[in-house]
Amino acid sequence: MTETSISTKGSNWGYAPSPESADHFKLKDQYGLFIGGKFVPAGSGKRFATINPANEKTLAQIADAGEKDVDKAVKAARIAYEKVWRKMPGRERGKYLYRIARIIQERARELAVVESMDGGKPIRESRDVDIPLAAAHFFYHAGWADKLGYAFPGRSANPIGVAGQIIPWNFPLLMVAWKVAPALACGNTVVLKPAETTPLTALLFAEICQEAGLPDGVFNCITGAGSTGAALVNHPGLDKVAFTGSTDVGKAIQKSLAGRSTKLTLELGGKAANIIFEDAAIDQAVEGIINGIFFNQGHVCCAGSRLLVQESVEQEVVEKLKARMEHLIVGDPLDKNTDIGAINSKAQCERIRDYLKVGQDEGAELFQTKCSVPEKGYWVRPSFFTKVAQSHRIVQEEIFGPVLAIQSFRTLDEALEKANNTPYGLSGGVWTDKGAKIFKVTRGIKAGVIWANTFNKFDPSSPFGGYKESGYGREGGRHGLRPYVELS
Ligand code: NAI
Ligand code: MG
Repeated sequence: MTETSISTKGSNWGYAPSPESADHFKLKDQYGLFIGGKFVPAGSGKRFATINPANEKTLAQIADAGEKDVDKAVKAARIAYEKVWRKMPGRERGKYLYRIARIIQERARELAVVESMDGGKPIRESRDVDIPLAAAHFFYHAGWADKLGYAFPGRSANPIGVAGQIIPWNFPLLMVAWKVAPALACGNTVVLKPAETTPLTALLFAEICQEAGLPDGVFNCITGAGSTGAALVNHPGLDKVAFTGSTDVGKAIQKSLAGRSTKLTLELGGKAANIIFEDAAIDQAVEGIINGIFFNQGHVCCAGSRLLVQESVEQEVVEKLKARMEHLIVGDPLDKNTDIGAINSKAQCERIRDYLKVGQDEGAELFQTKCSVPEKGYWVRPSFFTKVAQSHRIVQEEIFGPVLAIQSFRTLDEALEKANNTPYGLSGGVWTDKGAKIFKVTRGIKAGVIWANTFNKFDPSSPFGGYKESGYGREGGRHGLRPYVELS
């Protein structure tokens, strides 16, 4: 019997609730579209509700943009591009980005709480990861704004024009930053569409742009569901489209841009292998497995959703993992003790539950922790499957939830073969104390990002992006500037 470092035997080690307060700011009842520097209602007057997935309560009504609204936003972005932004010297553009970064820091507490309320992620993550990284992306790109000549030595970097950017619901404000900061730093203007379940921090970001005095029309935000996104992609006035989301929608966008000169980058799904060798520091690797799959409820495109563990330590790793998982606290996203928050939406919760059924129907063995979950809201207990085959759907398809598939391997070559046997190529992980093995694995896996003896670490200076069906183009670092400039 393996023991974890914390024993709960015979005593009550439960934590008292420690909720972050939400009374230091007030959300509006309704939010308009942000076009040309102003909040305006949708032309149709239509709205939709964004809810808190932890209690199913409505947080605010959001304007639902139609084709005409999209057209207005693209035109506002075009005017701002031609008249102001493209002509502004980089050092002046940089000042606005620095200002935005600082206001994000000033409003960090409000942004973190709203992020957790609107999307269900634990406050510890929004407070310590999402919001600080969003600010860091603006600081980083502010620094590039007047140094683009050094990013591409000997060439001159010119902006492309108007960028249409569509983002998902798993890291709402962070995805705003990943998309908007490089675009603006390089002199482009933006029409952004946030996801329909998590529009609030993008709208607060629009307020931040106003507060920073960003010239009207440089950043525009249109809210709505997939049809709003499609209207944006189909608008002929865009020079560039950037999309993060599902592989299916990515493929549809690629088709609708065929034959047009609009540039495209896609950041799509993943099914990363996290590979544990027998010589790894096992306790640390177990923490890495937990972080890899349960961070943000597993709603992470680069999640370590496939565990490949060397046969000689498989049993030990699985036992330790079970024991560690029983200590994960699932519940109120605003509680500072919570490890795993609410599933982002009812639809996503159903999708994950379907996969739990599919896995069992395919013959795999399901383990779920015994923790209790709240009655209202959308929840999935931390889960993993053993006895899985490479051909199983739970091994091949992205589940995007707190569900891990565990497989074993004997040799390094077998691990690589299994790791690469996937339509995706976004990320990977390797745990070993041998540097040579790390190099072999990182060279052998076809994926954009590979972590060694750690997982899910992000930095604005480090490029992120995929191969194969995980998309193309890079975000972050010098590589991430390239999709937003024309070189001459
Ligand atoms: P989705 O791809 O439909 O949503 C992402 C964004 O695309 C949202 O803003 C959405 O409104 C927009 N969108 C939807 N249809 C569109 C269209 N036809 N044209 C333009 N924009 C459109 O993802 P969904 O349905 O919410 O999640 C389904 C699965 O996708 C998840 O289970 C997960 O496997 C994957 N996913 C991957 C993400 C990633 O970061 N790679 C993020 C979100 C979802
Ligand atoms: Mg919501």
